Amino acid sequence: MIKNNVICQGNTTIMKKITTDTYDVLFGIEAYNLLGNFLREKDYSKIFIITDSNCHEYCVPRFLAHLPTQIPFEIIEVDNGESSKTIETCISIWQVLTELGADRKSVIINVGGGVITDLGGFIASTFKRGIDHIQIPTSLLGMVDASIGGKTGIDLDGIKNQIGTFTSPKMVVIDAEYLETLESRELRAGYAEMLKHALIYDVNYWNVLKDTANIDFNDLESLIYHSVFIKNEIVTQDPEEKGIRKCLNFGHTLGHGLESYFLYNNDKELLLHGEAVAIGIILESYLSWRKGSIDENIYKDIKSVILSIFPKVILSAEDINGVKEWLKHDKKSIKNIVQFVLLKGIGGFELNQHVDGQLIDDAFEDYLR
Ligand SMILES: NC(=O)c1ccc[n+]([C@@H]2O[C@H](COP(=O)([O-])OP(=O)(O)OC[C@H]3O[C@@H](n4cnc5c(N)ncnc54)[C@H](O)[C@@H]3O)[C@@H](O)[C@H]2O)c1
Ligand SMILES: [Zn+2]
Repeated sequence: MIKNNVICQGNTTIMKKITTDTYDVLFGIEAYNLLGNFLREKDYSKIFIITDSNCHEYCVPRFLAHLPTQIPFEIIEVDNGESSKTIETCISIWQVLTELGADRKSVIINVGGGVITDLGGFIASTFKRGIDHIQIPTSLLGMVDASIGGKTGIDLDGIKNQIGTFTSPKMVVIDAEYLETLESRELRAGYAEMLKHALIYDVNYWNVLKDTANIDFNDLESLIYHSVFIKNEIVTQDPEEKGIRKCLNFGHTLGHGLESYFLYNNDKELLLHGEAVAIGIILESYLSWRKGSIDENIYKDIKSVILSIFPKVILSAEDINGVKEWLKHDKKSIKNIVQFVLLKGIGGFELNQHVDGQLIDDAFEDYLR
């Protein structure tokens, strides 16, 4: 029996799930049995597990231990980190798939963070014009955001997600136990996307998340569920980002600029996607305040909550100019004008907002103050 997206047996809840238009997101250990049934029904010829070096060590053993299937499988491992989200990695994987005899009845199962779910989803959507894929996100960011909504992609010359497709997975399994081996810095990075979901869509959720002293970071499953629910609600209304889905880019216009700038400068320390988004959320909240769509005290609250979680990153004038250069590549730009998503109160947003270069400088200045 399915009640409100929760599968029940008698009075006992045995599994949570969220149904999208084309696939299910299944939560918890019971999900593996449904995945096993699904693989059997589909009668796949072979499973190709795409993973990275960390997830191969920490997550693939758990995944295989729980997966009931007789279908033969191969494991394809790439280096961990954003630098693997490139066409060079794709070429190697397409070649390996070919050598290992992958056919159109093969299925790709991505076991990893957002880099692996984006990369592996892209490989699956292009190999032999598209084969099935399943997402097993293992980072918090992968669970709450990257594995949901069917965006796949890779970076090109440092430009984030420049090449990609909209291709839904056949299933997403969210098993929060994987988070036990995730570094705390990575856990925090995933939290940035959850804060984004709250700020654009749900003021009550924001009030829960901002109170970090009361969050049990060892038991995030219900919060993960809520973030997936919000993301799915938005994506379902606009799967190919013609309108409302753009709101999920809040914090990402300047966030992606920062991420690309740090990624492309070898002398810069690593800045994780979620960390760049956290700064982007502060900067774009400042822009929202200055453009009159949120009050100053709301901006100050957002800034202080985020700075209590994410240490401030020192940026020079040269860095800020460098980040602004990357804005030219923002995918939301129309006729070379960058389009921002700004907040409209907490829990609301405005799309396609234009912002002066001077205001962006002011935002950085206020962030660094
Ligand atoms: N497609 C989308 O809609 C979407 C949405 C948001 C973000 N993204 C993309 O997601 C990527 C960021 O994802 P991420 O933050 O998960 O990065 P990531 O995939 O690099 O994972 C972070 C790090 O944690 C390690 N790791 C993952 N799970 C682990 C586990 N359980 N135990 C130990 N180590 C583990 C990985 O090896 C990696 O070193 C970016 O490329 C971003 O563009 C995509
Ligand atoms: Zn993101």
